[in-house]
Amino acid sequence: MSDKCGNCDCADKSHHLEEVAAGEVMGSLPMDQAFVQAPEHRAKPSVAEADGIPVIDLSPLFAADGVDVDVLAAEVGRASRDWGFFVVVRHGVPEEVVARAAEAQRAFFALPPARRAAVARSEAVQMGYYASDHTQNVRDWKEAFDLVPTRHSPLPLPSAMVLDNKWPDDLPGFREAMEEYGEAVEELAFKLLELIARSLGLRPDRLHGFFEDHQTTFIRLNHYPPCPSPDHALGLGHHKDAGALTVLYQDDVGGLDVRRRCDGEWVRVRPIPQSFIINIGDIIQVWSNDRYESVEHRVVVNVEKERFSIPFFFYPASYTMVEPLEEVVSEESPARYNPYSWGEFFSARKNGNFKKLDVDYVQITHFRKNAPVHVQ
Ligand code: OGA
Ligand code: NI
Repeated sequence: MSDKCGNCDCADKSHHLEEVAAGEVMGSLPMDQAFVQAPEHRAKPSVAEADGIPVIDLSPLFAADGVDVDVLAAEVGRASRDWGFFVVVRHGVPEEVVARAAEAQRAFFALPPARRAAVARSEAVQMGYYASDHTQNVRDWKEAFDLVPTRHSPLPLPSAMVLDNKWPDDLPGFREAMEEYGEAVEELAFKLLELIARSLGLRPDRLHGFFEDHQTTFIRLNHYPPCPSPDHALGLGHHKDAGALTVLYQDDVGGLDVRRRCDGEWVRVRPIPQSFIINIGDIIQVWSNDRYESVEHRVVVNVEKERFSIPFFFYPASYTMVEPLEEVVSEESPARYNPYSWGEFFSARKNGNFKKLDVDYVQITHFRKNAPVHVQ
């Protein structure tokens, strides 16, 4: 391994390391300490595939009479309460739309490093490519490309961060595939939002207003290259999703673990063809005043196979104040959270991540009433 930079001809490669995919760095270097998880966070060699994960058939939503919608909402409610996530099948997103997006994703990550680096995200414009993500200060074994569905015009976030897309040049069909995918999955996300509202005894469209104008939703294309040390590194460290809900496509390789609520064990979510995994995020936890809880999850990598996934992070407008909904709080069940600004929260997360600040990152527990004061 020469010390020469792979992207240009300079002697010092360190300034480019951030834009270089984990697999490329790791293929030729000894295990970089930045990737090494603390022993308690490492994956055990065998993780049980979970039994009993709720798999929900959404086809009643498309039936003409709509009579089963309340039954479906109750199912979604139970899964959100007991697991914090579930799998949906017959969800209405056409198979070919998913296939085109997955194909475009592979084509993007097959581009030479310099072409991926040409659409790298920056501090001011946080959409685009990067290979340097850290979760809780340990580097993730992955590279990713973020984009916002273009029908929306998210307002600049506090801290003046903008969510503009960077499209790769000369990658025919990429943008179209992503736009088509974003539109179809957004439709599904609104349906899920309606089922969640119904399951909480709310008006079906009670939560829609938070997403109508200027939602900050984005789509992430994840690529997890094969990893020589899957026992030390993780594709993505343990975390909870901060938004309302996540609609996740995963390919057939497998590696997503969720922490099972009933016993706190990590269990593997087996890939099911033509399904999506739905994660309840922190915002729904707060809106529901802890009736539903966001679920902790992580990604384990493997030696032989690369893995691809596409989370769609359904996020409200940046000016949304997140707080328990008035319909779910009462004298017996008072609000457990103080209101917080979604835009501030989102920017703080993004900034902390971008700069790799060595601080405990902002979490909803900091807004829990009577929580110890968070020192930043
Ligand atoms: C995420 C996530 C899971 C996966 O990006 O937040 O949890 O399977 N991804 O890639
Ligand atoms: Ni996640």
